[in-house]
Amino acid sequence: MKVAMIGAGYVGLVSGACFADFGHQVVCIDTNAAKIEALNRGEIPIYEPGLDVLVNGNRFAGRLSFSTDIAEGVAGADAVFIAVGTPTRRGDGHADLSYVYAAAEDIARAMTGYTVIVTKSTVPVGTADEVERIVRRVRPDGDFSVASNPEFLREGAAIDDFKRPDRVVVGAEEERAREVMRKLYRPLYLNETPILFTNRRTSELIKYAANAFLATKITFINEIADLCEKTGANVQDVSRGIGLDGRIGKKFLHAGPGYGGSCFPKDTLALVRTAQQFDAPVHIVETVVEVNTRRKLKMVDKVIDACGGSVEGKTIAVLGLTFKPETDDMRDAPSLDIVPGLIAKGANVRAHDPQGMKEAKHLLPETVSYCDGPYAASQGADAVVIITEWNVYRALDLQRLKQSLKTPILVDLRNIYDPAEVARQGFTYVSIGR
Ligand code: NAD
Ligand code: UDX
Repeated sequence: MKVAMIGAGYVGLVSGACFADFGHQVVCIDTNAAKIEALNRGEIPIYEPGLDVLVNGNRFAGRLSFSTDIAEGVAGADAVFIAVGTPTRRGDGHADLSYVYAAAEDIARAMTGYTVIVTKSTVPVGTADEVERIVRRVRPDGDFSVASNPEFLREGAAIDDFKRPDRVVVGAEEERAREVMRKLYRPLYLNETPILFTNRRTSELIKYAANAFLATKITFINEIADLCEKTGANVQDVSRGIGLDGRIGKKFLHAGPGYGGSCFPKDTLALVRTAQQFDAPVHIVETVVEVNTRRKLKMVDKVIDACGGSVEGKTIAVLGLTFKPETDDMRDAPSLDIVPGLIAKGANVRAHDPQGMKEAKHLLPETVSYCDGPYAASQGADAVVIITEWNVYRALDLQRLKQSLKTPILVDLRNIYDPAEVARQGFTYVSIGR
């Protein structure tokens, strides 16, 4: 099949490369010319494990190409995916659909023959209907269907998530559109991956409901962690104790500094706004949004408490800036609240992240110093704070770390160390819910 992927970001690039790997002929189109030029030179503009080999392998095999020319890419395509950003709209918290609608107009002008236009971006319920109206307005004669196919991949595990998903969701109103989607996902179909066909509005809502549910699960365990701290219970054992109940499930029960990333924060907020607009408020998600926003800021107090009540004039080593490991994505990362919060309280921050420092330099206060590694960051510091659980931080040489630090204080916001072991090595150790 011939596929055009509009938007070559985290989702478009991974999805485009995976569809090419399934044997389809894919062109990824992006308005960002620098990104397309880089891809055509074989450079991957984002950090995502395995993506380099997948993209360039398929590029050399002639199944994957990159272009800024939407007309050329869309003409003759069986399916055109819209995988552009849907960030929070300034001012009201709704999803900003301007990129989706701009793409729809461009597709309408360029499509030839029967085309399935698929929204892969996360979009509020009713967006596919609006995309259909836009395309119909621009091309009253056009032969097309609009389908919804939300993406559930996680950054850092994106290729595996795309190729071995728990399920694929397709919202379509016409059988001929379902048939095209079945052909596109044929390798998964053969693998017995459940492919759930629904109407478009249901499919759109499934995506927000899934993200909001997972964000709620994390927020729930984060609040239980706070209660554990007050009562002497251990949140990791609570997670295990409840997670082994198959009705609850053990995933997404790791307590931490609050969820971040390019999806949960914006999607929970957008769901709240949609629900308010339809006069069916989702109070639980409203609370999740508030609790999570407060939590990230509360982590600043946790560090201050660990440092004896003040960080004024102290140096804090921060390990991990991205919102999770194995990505360079800094969108809504907890570090964006924690680091400026510490600096506002008078701290000097020395930071390290394996992939996020380039982007962090544009987002964090200018006074942050960036270091080559965790020990360099800790040199002469009054405390070290782990914000993101990169593997390189999981097995630090604690004696070396201790020697680098002025005072051996370790604040572990991801619970990656054993409290007894760290205490035995002579640290004051503060973690989450233990
Ligand atoms: P991104 O910002 O990484 O990429 C979007 C790309 O679209 C950019 O490269 C931008 O230049 C391009 N673009 C914007 N308008 C365009 C247009 N009119 N024509 C061509 N290109 C255009 O965004 P992302 O993280 O890939 O997210 C895309 C969508 O997928 C969002 O709706 C997001 O919520 C959803 N999603 C993201 C993830 C994730 O992990 N990042 C997972 C699931 C779903
Ligand atoms: C998420 C969804 O998981 C994915 O299905 C969707 O397509 C996009 O949004 P992503 O944002 O890439 O994926 O990462 P995810 O692994 O879900 O983590 C999101 C945030 O939650 C991170 O800040 C992470 O640290 C945090 N988290 C996750 C926890 O604090 N505890 C957990 O148990 C799991």
